[in-house]
Amino acid sequence: MGEVRTERLLIRDWTLDDAEEALAIYGAEDVARWLTPEPHVVRDVQAMRSVLYAWVEAQPNLVAPAGRWAIVRREDGLLLGGLSLRLLPPYEEDFELSWQIRPDEWGNGYATEASRAIIRWAFDQGIEELFAVARPDNTRAIAAARRLGMEWVGETTKYYDRLLQVFRIRPSEL
Ligand SMILES: CC(C)(COP(=O)(O)OP(=O)(O)OC[C@H]1O[C@@H](n2cnc3c(N)ncnc32)[C@H](O)[C@@H]1OP(=O)(O)O)[C@@H](O)C(=O)NCCC(=O)NCCS
Repeated sequence: MGEVRTERLLIRDWTLDDAEEALAIYGAEDVARWLTPEPHVVRDVQAMRSVLYAWVEAQPNLVAPAGRWAIVRREDGLLLGGLSLRLLPPYEEDFELSWQIRPDEWGNGYATEASRAIIRWAFDQGIEELFAVARPDNTRAIAAARRLGMEWVGETTKYYDRLLQVFRIRPSEL
């Protein structure tokens, strides 16, 4: 993908040097508890480096538009969060957009701004729809999906062994 810039943000590939700052995202209970398929708190910088290592290694082999990216604030270079596009199990036909922002930066519209840019980029790659899934009680994620103009299309247990609300967006709805 290279890099994508928005008014306030830079969306770029992860590097191993992000480990310390990434812990403020993936080491935070408020973020980790909502991750699918299972909650996963990253405990320390070493564990964060291992996670990033796996992401960095996997990135070139993913089929576009799949990928994982870091969201950085342009003004001061602060690592705000992560974004990913991946194929949902078990059929691997539906692309899922997911986002994580460090909790002390929630409420600034960063997830919305970064997601809009990634959605536009993904549609430029020729895919026809994108999904987001959220646990029914993940109100912030559901609000973010709606803010992006995603449409609620139902709830399902088909992707993972748990009930999830499903949202969808198509190019004409951008
Ligand atoms: C889901 C998550 C990314 C949403 O973060 P967020 O900051 O609430 O999301 P948004 O970027 O849409 O920001 C919206 C808020 O910023 C405010 N805002 C401020 N400036 C804004 C702007 N320029 N544009 C849009 N919203 C703006 C909105 O009014 C809204 O405030 P509110 O929550 O008080 O109503 C975050 O809660 C998170 O990381 N959760 C844990 C992980 C998770 O559940 N991910 C989703 C499933 S994988």
